[in-house]
Amino acid sequence: MNEVSKTSYEKLILYYQSGTGNSYRTAVWMAEAAQKAGLPVELIPIHQANPAVELTDNAKSLVGFVSPTHGFIAPWSMLKFLFRLPVRKDVHAFYLATRGRLKFGRVFVPGLAASTIWFSALILALKGYRLVGVESIDMPSNWMTLHSGQKPESIRAIIARSKPRVDRFISRLLSGGRNWFTLRNAVELLFSIVLFPVSIVYLLFGKTFMSKIYFANRNCNSCGVCAKNCPQKAIRMIGKRNPKPFWTFRCESCMRCMGFCPQKAIEVHQPYVIIYCFFILMPFLNTLNGWFAGWFPQIPVLYEIVFAALYFLIYLSAVSAAYLLYFGLSLVPLGNTFLTWTTLTHIYSRYREPETTLHDLQKSSTPFHRSEGS
Ligand SMILES: Cc1cc2nc3c(=O)[nH]c(=O)nc-3n(C[C@H](O)[C@H](O)[C@H](O)COP(=O)(O)O)c2cc1C
Ligand code: SF4
Ligand code: SF4
Repeated sequence: MNEVSKTSYEKLILYYQSGTGNSYRTAVWMAEAAQKAGLPVELIPIHQANPAVELTDNAKSLVGFVSPTHGFIAPWSMLKFLFRLPVRKDVHAFYLATRGRLKFGRVFVPGLAASTIWFSALILALKGYRLVGVESIDMPSNWMTLHSGQKPESIRAIIARSKPRVDRFISRLLSGGRNWFTLRNAVELLFSIVLFPVSIVYLLFGKTFMSKIYFANRNCNSCGVCAKNCPQKAIRMIGKRNPKPFWTFRCESCMRCMGFCPQKAIEVHQPYVIIYCFFILMPFLNTLNGWFAGWFPQIPVLYEIVFAALYFLIYLSAVSAAYLLYFGLSLVPLGNTFLTWTTLTHIYSRYREPETTLHDLQKSSTPFHRSEGS
């Protein structure tokens, strides 16, 4: 571990967002390093934060923002949080993104954070913060819609490689250094520029579509843990006697509910995703595109605005309507069994950062949080 002999800062505030605990864990590592250097630390999940009060304009404060990468950009809730931050002229700031690494045999395949660090850094700069660095850190990929949770030894190996990087990063910043000109940051910048359009499409279409692909299998005992612990409050429990989780558009697929459900009951039906998305929704949206082009050909600006708004509304309605059928099918015992046995998530193992509990992801539980009035 890189010890910090002297720091000019008087306080470290870490705002984090985390689905399955990876980003939380990196924030804890930084908090521990800062505490060793004698610095008071506050570790605050963004959904419980009040930056207008917590962030005083003080050159002796260092504030860090930590989040996962979703579609090569920060999750929408983190972007909203950054957009709404109070303007500060003196506060030093940094952004650290975790990204999803996979391990196949001896081969480690790194993730890619791209705009997660660079676009977020741009927002912070526009808000007046004095940026001291960005960093992306590989943690085990948690995208259980796509792949099974990795083997415990792979998870351990990935985490063991990342901790020293985080320690080096935070030590450099606490000692008054900067973290800009690294090969990794340069690669992330390049991909940030190239993939920015992909990230925008992800935020508009990918995120919204993916919020409507979950269902609970018959192991669900209606405990409500998923709804209670969702950072976006995206799950509604539907039904009187045995309520079942219903996913709303607020969901940003952080994977917390899927990773922490005590019954391992949350599934995604991949055949539904593929068939509906590629064979029904996309051809439908393409046809719609053609119709609209015929309706508003002569007034380009009006066409663009009306078209974009209508198109998006129709898209959301189509996703909603299909989800009502999908959710309805999951409530019928035979339908639920069919969905459960024809999806890969049923055999996938679940991932969550091994040291992190649901309780840890709440502000009141962290030893780094200063309780009100102290
Ligand atoms: C919906 C979704 C999208 C993701 N997109 C990316 C990505 O674009 N690049 C990447 O490297 N990792 C991606 N990941 C992996 C996560 O960023 C990574 O596992 C992260 O460490 C999870 O952190 P958390 O446990 O704090 O949420 C994605 C994961 C999910 C669930
Ligand atoms: S899906 Fe899991 S966490 Fe949610 S109510 Fe059912 S058993 Fe509980
Ligand atoms: S519903 Fe689940 S995946 Fe979606 S934001 Fe909430 S905890 Fe995350």
